[in-house]
Amino acid sequence: MTSPLFRTKKVEQSIRDTEEPEHALKKSLSALDLTVFGVGVIIGTGIFVLTGTVAKDNAGPATALAFVVAGVVCALAALCYAEFASTVPVAGSAYTFSYASLGELPAWIIGWDLVLEFALGTAVVAVGWSGYIQSLMDNAGWQMPAALGSREGSDVFGFDILAAALVLVLTGILVLGMKLSARVTSVVVAIKVTVVLVVIIAGAFFITGDNYDPFIPDSKPVPAGDSLDAPLIQLMFGWAPANFGVMGIFTAASVVFFAFIGFDIVATAAEETRNPQRDMPRGILGSLLICTVLYVLVSIVVTGMQHYTELSVDAPLADAFKATGHPWFAGFISFGAAVGLTTVCMILLLGQTRVFFAMSRDGLLPRFFSRVHPRFRTPHRPTILLGVIIAIVAGFTPLNELAALVNIGTLFAFVIVAISVIILRRTRPDLHRAFRTPWVPVLPIVSVAASLWLMLNLPTETWIRFGVWMAIGVVVYFLYSRTHSRLARGEAEPGTPPASSGGPGSR
Ligand code: ALA
Repeated sequence: MTSPLFRTKKVEQSIRDTEEPEHALKKSLSALDLTVFGVGVIIGTGIFVLTGTVAKDNAGPATALAFVVAGVVCALAALCYAEFASTVPVAGSAYTFSYASLGELPAWIIGWDLVLEFALGTAVVAVGWSGYIQSLMDNAGWQMPAALGSREGSDVFGFDILAAALVLVLTGILVLGMKLSARVTSVVVAIKVTVVLVVIIAGAFFITGDNYDPFIPDSKPVPAGDSLDAPLIQLMFGWAPANFGVMGIFTAASVVFFAFIGFDIVATAAEETRNPQRDMPRGILGSLLICTVLYVLVSIVVTGMQHYTELSVDAPLADAFKATGHPWFAGFISFGAAVGLTTVCMILLLGQTRVFFAMSRDGLLPRFFSRVHPRFRTPHRPTILLGVIIAIVAGFTPLNELAALVNIGTLFAFVIVAISVIILRRTRPDLHRAFRTPWVPVLPIVSVAASLWLMLNLPTETWIRFGVWMAIGVVVYFLYSRTHSRLARGEAEPGTPPASSGGPGSR
């Protein structure tokens, strides 16, 4: 492991870097802020939009089980994330963790992967938000011109101006500072959780028991189509592609997994946390648990309100209330969903800029991007650059395929983090770990297997797209990052005194 490709950045160096005043973020978040932050990003398009599609196409009422499967995969990964986040409390999430354990090339790969996850995730949620806003506008009798509102199923060349505008406005808010965004986030999270609770409590009164029969619909072969659409696992083993049944639950889980994305982003805010060693694990596990319980209840209620074959795919939660003759509830839910998706979008954007920031601070991307704003103390340059790119992507691209790509990228990050827990325990047993993953190495190994299993249930074409993106990343690494890395230039060697010794690095 002496190859420069596997040079590791010392954990102490990572922490010291955060204390250089020019490159330091403000430390202002508590465990409660982090939980709110987590719930704020976790509940979103997954539960509000994908539940209907998945119940209808893959799992029926057993969608609730798909949420349990995806939740378990995330909980395993969360236990690994929590150890790393409490050991290496600096911006950058899985990227930073793998730089400290696996080495520079794997870290680059994971950083590049996270850029994909967060950027496309932001775009997916912005498009979902735009859909809900347009549905509310419809209620009021207003229609967006097709060229500015829709693109799927429309012959008109379209640019989703609402989705793009949302991303740009949120970019502005993030540039102005974390404090403002955290405050906005808490209000919006309260609205969103209220809406979800209304769905569960009010919806429970409109459940018809017959809708649960059968709870796990029988497996049905899908008509022969493009084989690249089939899950890779089916292609690998030459199985006949099928929906529903027990395998349908796993296909559904690989899709609704999107609904859990976000708890890992809590880890990207470690550097902005007042007491990361204690608060990080609480924030990550707490927000994940709350969301899993809510998701299972929502999907049980919604598939009980309407037969799964009749659920809507655009706004399933609101439409289930319309179908039972309660349009007022439907309007309220649509409004809350639109408000809630705003925070999801904002936090994904935030996670995205923080990973980019961390990579730039290490010299793997141009250092220009890691100078924080002198007044707002935010990494304004990557925030603006990425905000504009994501706004354009959100304006032009359709939803479904992007969501699958986001899922594969995230699951891949989970695999690397779990492996890193094992490696760092061996290479740096001395490090203080405020939170220790239980049953190492068994739990991380099970986490790797579980994440890989969900990945294999994603379509083959998603694997191909993911492969192309990662190949581009490797080329960029060899052409730029390898030689510009601060480690390569000897700037970040452990013996080098930090620029800010005696500075404001206290926490
Ligand atoms: N988990 C987030 C959502 O469902 C990304 O929108």
